[in-house]
Formats: sequence, structure tokens, C-alpha cells
Amino acid sequence: MLSFRNGDMMPALGLGTWKSRPGEVYDAIREAIKIGYRHFDCAFIYENEKEIGQALTDAISDGEVSRNDLWITSKLWCDVHARADVIPALKGTLADLKLEYLDLYLIHWPIAFQKGIKYPRIGSEFISLDDMPLEETWAGMEDAVNAGLTRHIGVSNFSIKKLKQISASATIKPEMDQVEMHPLLQQSKLVSFCHAEGIHVTAYSPLGSPDRHPSIKGKDEPSLLEHPVITKIAERNNCSTGQVLIQWAMARGTAVIPKSVNPGRLKQNFDAAGISLSDKDMADINAMDRHFRYLEGGIWTIEGSPYTKANLWDE
Ligand code: A2P
Repeated sequence: MLSFRNGDMMPALGLGTWKSRPGEVYDAIREAIKIGYRHFDCAFIYENEKEIGQALTDAISDGEVSRNDLWITSKLWCDVHARADVIPALKGTLADLKLEYLDLYLIHWPIAFQKGIKYPRIGSEFISLDDMPLEETWAGMEDAVNAGLTRHIGVSNFSIKKLKQISASATIKPEMDQVEMHPLLQQSKLVSFCHAEGIHVTAYSPLGSPDRHPSIKGKDEPSLLEHPVITKIAERNNCSTGQVLIQWAMARGTAVIPKSVNPGRLKQNFDAAGISLSDKDMADINAMDRHFRYLEGGIWTIEGSPYTKANLWDE
């Protein structure tokens, strides 16, 4: 469990829902709740919040779980970064999820688009951060807390530099940075900074997101689930490679949100919380770091976009 500033507790292991298709996500959520998952990671742009909302509502009305015991995160899309657009966007997500409040709402990317654009195809569909400062979006996020629509706010895909920038003028400091994180991209500096500042970190794509659409997959990507070091550690611990990857994230004090829609893998991933990795296991994994991003943000840096890999990641 990760403890928030007001004492709220977030289960460190959550279920990711990116790439979980309508038609399969309903059953996945119902199954996950039966297994014991209580933390669900959602986003407007995953285009499945309505179905997730139905599954949550049905599980609550069937008496399997109460709203109080759930931790629901969602994320603000990039076309509604203007302060006045944040609350209406959040209300839309709440209507889809059939909830009265979120536990955590995140700015999905430190990138802005023209309103109504889901994925820009030309440079002019982006708005630069000079024209849509992150501080303005953050003020909208604070409005959402003050309106009682979300209990906590945070960000996703933010660098240390951008966290410092929004924290400087914030009334409510960010409490979460959700970033890609796994043994090939350990981001130890970011984790240390966040933990020193009282900001939690959630590791997304902890298994390397092998089910990404081919258009956002690199050629000859390394596999985490079949990595020889991870395979060896899995053999030593008599568990699966997925479980090693999930437990490694938990052992570092981060939250982790592996996605699955398969009942067997949902259970296997949940049970990863019970595995304990030795110092040698951790050291072997720590030696794997090579700052490799599966999601390098190439779709945000097309010709004419004000965003570059350098100004997106600040590295
Ligand atoms: P599925 O949904 O069929 O289980 P990430 O969380 O890094 O985005 O990775 C999600 C991908 O990993 C999905 O393709 C998911 O498939 C697969 N997956 C989830 N859990 C496991 C596991 N324990 N072992 C192997 N593959 C897994």
C-alpha cells in the first residue's frame, strides 16, 4: 500500500487498462475484482471507460466490493489542458465510469493539442507549452480537487524538471508521477527525487507492453518477458517472468499496473505481490538498466510539432 498525504492508501498493485478493448475489458474487471484487485488505472483516451464503469457498478451492486475499497485513477487528455476545460473533461470521465469522484486524476502527457484532437496528424494540431503552460493545466487540476471531483492529483510522463516547474506555483503539490518503468528503464534518479519530495511513482508498461499496435512498436525491440536475466530469476524463484517484473517494481516502492484481460494472467500477476526477490535477484535486475524506452513519444514529435524528444523527456 502507498500512503498519501491525507492518509489515503493506494494498493501498490493495480490493473492497467490501456489496450484492453471494449468487449473484453468488462469481463477482465469483473474477474480482477473477484481475484482481489482494488486499484484500476484508466484514462479517457483508452476509449473503454464506459465499459469499465459498467463492470465497477455491477460489481458494487452485486455486493462484491464497495466504492470505498476501490482506488480509481484516470487521466486528462491533451486537448483539454486549458484551465476551464479540466473540470468538464473530468465530469465526462466520471459519467463514463459511473462514479461520483476519482481517487486520482493525472495530466496524461506534458503536451497540449487543439481542442477536439485525439491524435495530431499535422504540426498545427499541437499547442506549445509556451501557449498552454503546464501551470495553467495544473490550476485546473487543483480546481477539480476543490470541487470534490477527485481526491488526489498528479501527472504522467513528467520529468524532474517539469515536476519542479509545476510544484513551484502549486497550491496542491502533485502526489503521483506515472511513467514507463521496468528493468531496462529504471529511472532511479526520478524515483529518488519523487520519493524525497513525497511524490509517488507508478510504473507503466512494466512488462514492456508487447501488445502495442505495430505503428508504435520499434523494430527488434528487446523482450522483457523473455529476457535471459529475468528468466533465470524466475527459475530461481519458481515463478513466471511477469511475476518477477511486477515484484521488482513493488520492491522499489513504486506502484505498478500490469495490464491483462486473461483470467490466468490476472491471477498470476496479482499473486506476484507474494513473491520475495533476494538481494542477488535485485542486483542482477539493477544491472540490466539501459535507459531503453518502449514508448519514446515519437508520435508527439512529428514534423511541425513544437515537441521534440529532447524537450519532452528533458534529457
Ligand atoms: P493479456 O492481456 O492477454 O494477458 P504491459 O502491462 O506492460 O502493458 O503489458 C501487457 C501485455 O502483457 C499484454 O499483451 C498482456 O496480455 C501481457 N501479459 C500480462 N500479464 C502477463 C504475464 N504474466 N505473462 C505474459 N504476458 C502477460
